[in-house]
Amino acid sequence: MTDTVLITGATSGIGAEFARQYAARGCALVLVARASGPLEDSARELRTRWGADVETIAADLLDDDGLARVLARLGAGRRDPGSAEDEGPAPVSVLVNNAGYGLVRPFADNPLDDEVRHLRIHVEVPLALAHAALQSMRPRGAGTIITVASVAGFTPRGTYGAAKAAMISFSRWANLTYGPEGIRVTAVCPGFVHTRFHQRMGADKSSVPGPLWLDAGLVVREGIRDAEAGRAVSVPSARYKVITTLAKVAPSSLVARLAQRGR
Ligand SMILES: NC(=O)c1ccc[n+]([C@@H]2O[C@H](COP(=O)([O-])OP(=O)(O)OC[C@H]3O[C@@H](n4cnc5c(N)ncnc54)[C@H](OP(=O)(O)O)[C@@H]3O)[C@@H](O)[C@H]2O)c1
Repeated sequence: MTDTVLITGATSGIGAEFARQYAARGCALVLVARASGPLEDSARELRTRWGADVETIAADLLDDDGLARVLARLGAGRRDPGSAEDEGPAPVSVLVNNAGYGLVRPFADNPLDDEVRHLRIHVEVPLALAHAALQSMRPRGAGTIITVASVAGFTPRGTYGAAKAAMISFSRWANLTYGPEGIRVTAVCPGFVHTRFHQRMGADKSSVPGPLWLDAGLVVREGIRDAEAGRAVSVPSARYKVITTLAKVAPSSLVARLAQRGR
């Protein structure tokens, strides 16, 4: 059966690349982002280039109504194939929690409201979507939940690193817990990736050396491969595998100083 893949933040950067790679595999897509123009442009490109079946949900995930509409789509679909209830949209079999943004200033310099919203988009929203997806995936005994975390989750890097660390820890536990039921849970942890992320947060990209930049194509290819292999944590590229291994043993003060790049 064709997978139906729901991707948050699917109009730009890493999320748009997930949409392209899943479309190229013949999957149906449910794209989520706030701006409806780019959503429709992305849907058109995916339909034209790969003949993909594409739904769009224009929703702000930090807004109760927007989140509720995405949760409703995750709860919809056939739970009992072959029965009279076998109607409606196909159930989501792959959830990609990807939408997110960064704050350029450190914790104490930001209004607390901004920090709370940042925590919500990176932790509360992916947990809520994973919870809804599990209600529908568990009865079917199959599914994949990918959360785009970051190598920042392995380093002292403010509340961004803390939020990503929470999702890495959750994915490790959930993969162990739901893996035996046929549900794979994976945190994909990229290093610096060329997307609109840094420009949107007003960060200085020039402080990051060229070799540390990754292409979204490689990140997503390796992320999907690791999720399909049932790995709880995916660190795309050999160079970032080495960096995250060293970060575990190097002094925190040194790792924190290096992690300040791209701010
Ligand atoms: N780029 C990097 O170096 C890097 C490295 C590690 C991890 N990551 C993570 O990768 C993920 C994707 O980032 P990216 O680099 O691809 O950034 P991006 O190019 O800025 O794309 C972000 C996407 O999220 C959507 N989005 C943002 N806020 C949203 C909201 N409140 N509700 C719904 N959609 C929202 C945006 O669309 P709208 O604005 O239209 O809503 C856009 O589609 C993030 O979780 C980020 O933390 C990025």
